[in-house]
Amino acid sequence: MLLGSRLLNSGKVATPVYITMLAAECAPVIKVGGLADVVFGISRELEIRGNAVEIILPKYDCMRYDQIWGLHIMMPDLWVPWYGGAIHCSVWFGFVHGRKCFFIEPHSSDNFFNRGAYYGFHDEALRFAFFSKAAMEFLLKTDKRPDVIHCHDWHTGLAPVLLAEVYKFHGMQNQRTCYTIHNFKHQGVAGANILWATGLQRPEYYFNYHQLRDNINHGALNFMKGGIVYSNFVTTVSPQHAWEARHTDQGYGLGHTLHVHADKFGGVLNGVDYEVWNPETDRFIPCRYGVDTLQDKYGNKEALRDRFWLRKDYKPIIAYVGRLDQQKGVHLIRHALFYALWNGAQFVLLGTSPDRDISNYFWHLKNYLNDSPDCHLELGFDEDLSHLIYAGADMIVVPSLFEPCGLTQMIALKYGTVPIVRAVGGLVDTVFDRDHSDRPIHERNGYVFHQTDASALESAMQRAIGLWYSYPEEFRSLIANGMRYDYSWNYPGQHYLNIYEHIRHK
Ligand code: ADP
Ligand code: GLC
Repeated sequence: MLLGSRLLNSGKVATPVYITMLAAECAPVIKVGGLADVVFGISRELEIRGNAVEIILPKYDCMRYDQIWGLHIMMPDLWVPWYGGAIHCSVWFGFVHGRKCFFIEPHSSDNFFNRGAYYGFHDEALRFAFFSKAAMEFLLKTDKRPDVIHCHDWHTGLAPVLLAEVYKFHGMQNQRTCYTIHNFKHQGVAGANILWATGLQRPEYYFNYHQLRDNINHGALNFMKGGIVYSNFVTTVSPQHAWEARHTDQGYGLGHTLHVHADKFGGVLNGVDYEVWNPETDRFIPCRYGVDTLQDKYGNKEALRDRFWLRKDYKPIIAYVGRLDQQKGVHLIRHALFYALWNGAQFVLLGTSPDRDISNYFWHLKNYLNDSPDCHLELGFDEDLSHLIYAGADMIVVPSLFEPCGLTQMIALKYGTVPIVRAVGGLVDTVFDRDHSDRPIHERNGYVFHQTDASALESAMQRAIGLWYSYPEEFRSLIANGMRYDYSWNYPGQHYLNIYEHIRHK
């Protein structure tokens, strides 16, 4: 492949890298959360820098086909070994906003990816074990030999294992693996049948503690542990979370494994794709604006109120955008809503939950607040609407119990929406308290609280709402500080290239 050369920070000319991303999501075609944004954003950045990137994804029936250009079958017959036989697959190719994507479609009665939803099935481990196996088989059969196979989250944890234990012996000995963990809570824990299915024989070997045996449930195998043990480099999505995963219960049982592999583990703060998330160019908002035209932001506030029938009073709007999951601090989201209403603010929520109890709970809340002119709950997934909320709100609340990185606070900063966050994970690395941070005043960009109780949240919200009402000029300075931050993929893009360079020459 002919590619332009790239200058390293050191001034040396670096050879372009050929990278294959393996993931269960990629924005905007398959998106549940931040994983999707990251897979798309990092791929775009790496390509801009002159590298070759391809993305391998499952072909789900429910993905957004309107976001794919030129979709066609590029390989009608890929036979993927599975248990004693093989499953017939077709591989499709298409461009997702310029990114080269391959979609694997199995034809079998298992019906792995045609279920009307991305996740939430009893055979989840098998579905993604199959995807990992199929992706490796696809690379093998098409003679694709990327320099780096970059795998994401538990879904693809078996790919580095398969490379080292099987595919290396079939001509893939020069491929290196980078494994990025976006969420330690979901690890892919399964029984021995996974070994038979994927062709990893020798259960006594894989059930070894140093290999794939789950650290807690000794009768089970752990995909994420496999990814950590077998990859050439492992990252998680912020430096603070890299520390938490090793030293606190946020590693969800993998702390010791990370400790053993500490010399190849680190945190790389995610970026935000400013091609997608930029109030100066955003096509989903009625009024575009930047740090020097901040007054135009308020046209979006009006539009947001119109959309949700909110009263047009002199009040700040506080928003929550995100999955409604225990991880996100459900009780604190609820408390933020009522605290806002009791203290002269309006509240807007956009979120959805696969958990029936949480979902019912928010539907109940929505009905209860139906007549409030100061509050709106939108329970569903709506990417376009999320842009209007980031642009129209004055503040955003992110009260997570744990948060490996968090993108919503970084997007909000770009849109001049002041984040109020709990001090955990990537939130610690990106939001600096206006009153208590030890950073210079012009670098402070939001409000931070520490504990998980209601009064901790209240203390931060009170300060934020108080500043909005009493010192509007100061509030505008805080907004401007946030908008000037550069949380693009520029820096993390270079960081990942350095990692690739490092593992390629090991
Ligand atoms: P996580 O990956 O844990 O869900 P992040 O903060 O990293 O959290 O990323 C969440 C991403 O998903 C953001 O781009 C956010 O705007 C988007 N998002 C979450 N829920 C919704 C929703 N209901 N509608 C639209 N976008 C959503
Ligand atoms: C995960 C995490 C979130 C992170 C995202 C992208 O789903 O929950 O904190 O920002 O992945 O890395």
